[in-house]
Amino acid sequence: MRGPAHQKETLDPAPGVVTDQISITNFLQAENEYEVIAEIFNGLTAEKKTISSKYFYDDTGSQLFEQITLLPEYYPTRTEKSILQRVARDIVAFHGAPEIIELGSGDCSKISILLDAFQEGGFESLSYLPVDVSEAAVIQSSEELIDKYPGLQVQGIVADFMKHLDGLPDGNNRLICFFGSTLGNLGEKEATEFICSVKRIMKKGDSFLLGLDIVKDTRTLELAYNDKQCITDAFNKNILSAVNNLAATNFHPEDFKHRAFFNAERSRIEMHLVALKDLVIESPHFSQKITLKKGETIHTENSRKFTHEDIRQMANDSGLSIQGIHTDHHEWFSLVHFICNG
Ligand code: SAH
Ligand code: TRP
Repeated sequence: MRGPAHQKETLDPAPGVVTDQISITNFLQAENEYEVIAEIFNGLTAEKKTISSKYFYDDTGSQLFEQITLLPEYYPTRTEKSILQRVARDIVAFHGAPEIIELGSGDCSKISILLDAFQEGGFESLSYLPVDVSEAAVIQSSEELIDKYPGLQVQGIVADFMKHLDGLPDGNNRLICFFGSTLGNLGEKEATEFICSVKRIMKKGDSFLLGLDIVKDTRTLELAYNDKQCITDAFNKNILSAVNNLAATNFHPEDFKHRAFFNAERSRIEMHLVALKDLVIESPHFSQKITLKKGETIHTENSRKFTHEDIRQMANDSGLSIQGIHTDHHEWFSLVHFICNG
C-alpha cells in the first residue's frame, strides 16, 4: 500500500448544512481516504475475496436499493411496514419519545409511519436523527420529512454506525430504530458487538426497535435476492463501480455474474460476484496487482435470517429486555421492541 502508514483517526465531524429545521453533520469527511483504500485492498487480497457491503450505498446504489424494496419478490420491506403500521400507535403510547434516532435510515418511508403515529398522538415538536453512510440519502430524506412534518427538527448524521455511535448527541427518552434487517448484514460477532454498543448509548427509559428477517423456506428467501427484473443483480454489480470511484480500480461490472443463495448452515443469504474470465485488477493506490481466476468470487453481502432463539440470545448478550416481538401472519419478519432498564 502507498500512503502514510499510520494516521490518527479524527472523530471531529465536519461542519455541515444548517437551516432552521435541518442540520447535517458529516463524520465521514473527517475519515481517512487511506483507510477506505486499505479496507478495499485488504478485502480483495484476502484468501476469500470480499468487499464490505457498506460500499453498496453510493448514490446509484441507494437508488437501486429503493427499487429493490418495491419488488414483488422482496417481501421484507412491505412486511416490516405492515407490522409498523399495526403497532406504531402502541409504541407511541408506550414510549412518548420526543427524540427518534434511526440507524441506517436510507429513505424515509418507514420512519414516516412512526412520525404519522406521533403526530396523531399529539406530539407536535419532535426531533429526528437519521444516521447513514449515504450523505445523499440523509439530505434527501431530511428535506422530504420537513416538508411533510412542519414541527419536525431533523439532525442528519452522515456516519458509520459501526464506528460513530459514541459520537451521537446525548439525549433522554430516545427511541432508537434499526429497520430493514440491516443487522443481518453484519457478521455474527459484529452484530453482537453492535447490539452491545447500542445498549451502551441507551439510558433507562430509552427503547430500541429492531427489524429482523426470520428464517423461512429457501425458495422464498432465494427469490427475494434473485428478482426477475435483475435489479438485485445491478445493485450487486454496482458495488464495483463504487469501488472504482473510491479506490481508482479498473473493475468492469460486466465481467462478473451475480450469485445469491441461502447458506442453511449459517442461516444466511450470501451474495457473490463471480468472475466470468481471468482478470487483473489494479489501482495506482495498490502496491500489487490483484488476480481473479475465472469462476472465482468476491463475497459482497450476507443477509442473516434469525430465529426467536436468536432474539432471546441478543437480549441475553446485551442486557436489554424484550418489551415485545411483533410479527406478521406468516411470521416472515419481526419487529423487536427492546427496552433498557438501566
Ligand atoms: N432502513 C432502510 C434502509 C436499509 S438498507 C430500510 O429499512 O429500508 C441499509 C442502509 O444502511 C442503507 O441506507 C445504507 O446506506 C446504510 N448503511 C449500511 N452500512 C452502514 C454503516 N456502516 N453505517 C451507517 N449506515 C450504513
Ligand atoms: N438488509 C437488507 C437485506 O439483507 C438489505 C440488503 C442488503 C439487500 N443487501 C441487499 C437487499 C441485496 C437485496 C439485495 O435484505
